Amino acid sequence: MSTDNKQNWKPATKLVHGGTTRSSFGETSEAMYLTQGFVYDSAEAAEARFIGEDPGYIYSRYANPTVAMFEKRMCEIEGTEAARATSSGMAAVHSALMACVRAGDHVIAPKALFGSCRYIVEKLLPRFGVESTLIDGTDLAQWKAALRPNTKAAFMESPTNPTLEVIDVRAVADLLHEAGARLIVDNVFATAIWQSPLELGADVVVYSATKHIDGQGRCLGGIVLSDEKWITEEFHDPYKHTGPAMSPFNAWVLLKGLETLPLRVERQTHTASKIADLLADHAAVSRLIYPGREDHPQAEIARRQMRGGSTMIAFDLAGGKEAAFKFSNALNIVQLSNNLGDAKSLITHPATTTHQSLDESARLELGITDKTLRFSVGLEDTDDLLADVTQALAQV
Ligand SMILES: Cc1ncc(COP(=O)(O)O)c(C=O)c1O
Repeated sequence: MSTDNKQNWKPATKLVHGGTTRSSFGETSEAMYLTQGFVYDSAEAAEARFIGEDPGYIYSRYANPTVAMFEKRMCEIEGTEAARATSSGMAAVHSALMACVRAGDHVIAPKALFGSCRYIVEKLLPRFGVESTLIDGTDLAQWKAALRPNTKAAFMESPTNPTLEVIDVRAVADLLHEAGARLIVDNVFATAIWQSPLELGADVVVYSATKHIDGQGRCLGGIVLSDEKWITEEFHDPYKHTGPAMSPFNAWVLLKGLETLPLRVERQTHTASKIADLLADHAAVSRLIYPGREDHPQAEIARRQMRGGSTMIAFDLAGGKEAAFKFSNALNIVQLSNNLGDAKSLITHPATTTHQSLDESARLELGITDKTLRFSVGLEDTDDLLADVTQALAQV
């Protein structure tokens, strides 16, 4: 088979080679351009750059060659034309939403969102005259009922953080498009390996690159991907003038992360599915949520829109908060941390950490009880992790 057409490369090949631009030295690994600015051969050349006649770099808040390699590689894997990398996942979420709305507009989002995402939709946007409606994202009738003539955008995660609800991206995108609104999907939990929101009809996809893309807990990052027209006409100017740009150093780390993304996500998912099966059959566990299992509440949608399970598991321990804390404290290999997507297995108790800012009734509405734990499965040996979970369960 011919391999000269990059379009035909499989994802793993794109993630190693996509977007690479070599300097005159012909380096193997991507070059790290740790520079703020760029020099011009003449005043005329500077003028040409600024008026857009010469497409070169101007200033790293707008664009940088190492960051551009990361953006291009991500475009190749998502199958889209344009992207802008950001300093964190939240900078990506915030800038993507802000680029879609003006005062007087309306936004829809599921209630089941990562706490900071919910803060932007529920608290921050209304400060600037953008109303928001929070719904149960798994209920299409609620999406339909929430639409208004001034609805310009919707923001959703799938699977959601932390209870791994799966939302029908295609059905939601169709509803929004009929109403002339855009759908932004935060693909952090699914990863580009298991889900392609733009192929499912989303208009914009955002990532916290901090999670699986780095995958080794080193640096923060984010990215916003969409078509060239929206990125250049709607997104680029607010991005350039407000400064959420990614550091070239972080872009280099994240390029290295992309090279191993499929290996890590496949292995972490394999181990997660084994741990989910172990938890599902254990008497101490009263609820188990794992998108790769047939007993997941939206298993049929997950099968349709995801190519694999998840590196994440959510579960309840029948013994309540006391058991959840005891179990977490008894783990030897799995670490207590609110991060996710890391090579290190991490566990968190959302009600007292990531979602503690929500009041209890809002938490319960999302299925986050005192019994709930969120487990991000890492790259340790599968049997070692199964043994660690088994011994910790024996203590509750
Ligand atoms: C679903 C989701 N979106 C966005 C973010 C924010 O990412 P960052 O911490 O890189 O700003 C997180 C972080 O946990 C997340 O879980």
